[in-house]
Amino acid sequence: MINRKSEREIAMMGEAGKLLANCHREIAKMIKPGVTTKEIDSFVEEYLAKHGATPEQKGYNGYEYATCASINDEICHGFPRDEKLVDGDIVTIDMVVNLNGGLADSAWTYVVGKADEKTQKLLDVTKASLYKGIEKAVPGNRLGDIGHAIQQYAEAEGFSVVRDFTGHGIGPTIHEDPHIPHFGEPGKGVRLKEGMVVTIEPMLNEGTWQSKMDDNNWTARTVDGGRSAQYEHTIVIKKDGPLILTDQGE
Ligand code: MF3
Ligand code: CO
Repeated sequence: MINRKSEREIAMMGEAGKLLANCHREIAKMIKPGVTTKEIDSFVEEYLAKHGATPEQKGYNGYEYATCASINDEICHGFPRDEKLVDGDIVTIDMVVNLNGGLADSAWTYVVGKADEKTQKLLDVTKASLYKGIEKAVPGNRLGDIGHAIQQYAEAEGFSVVRDFTGHGIGPTIHEDPHIPHFGEPGKGVRLKEGMVVTIEPMLNEGTWQSKMDDNNWTARTVDGGRSAQYEHTIVIKKDGPLILTDQGE
């Protein structure tokens, strides 16, 4: 069942979204060779506590951390850890903020040190593909319109789109209907309606889209060892189009 949100719920999710966007801006400043994803995770917990919020991922289905931190060939749900990031790594930090019961979800890929041309292209195309998908999130369009826009652009730029993880509705809980694939056919799938709040979160790979699961049963990584990037926003579908609740101004 797809539940549409009231103005009040949307306002609460918007407050969580602003805090989450600010938290990502702080993380951006921390990303340097030598920092660990455990340190980033601790920072996030303290930052949220200071602002009266909690990390919704912690304890979700037994997940133990405030953030997911996915490095290089890890697609998503990487565990924060003590290994130091090194120059040239890419790392996706994903988190769900709960502020007074309003949730917001946003992931961002950061480069450690200076990005070479190939890395920059992966990040630029992944981010641009997110915005191509968001553009299609207007009432009357269908889910396939979002997925198609992302896939067509990503593949034309030489990357593949992960199939095994999708965007999702978000409301009182992290994952609600509908699932939002980042690939698909225009005009197919559920029709989008005013008041739906969803995440769009394309994961693009340098090589094949196929993923495999680590022994920890959480972390997905590329089968071919190619790197994977991801950008995610929480958006609300308004009468006149999408509004990004987790906008960082980038
Ligand atoms: N933030 C993730 C998403 O975008 C949800 C991760 S759930 C967790 O869907 F338990 F892994 F944290
Ligand atoms: Co997320």
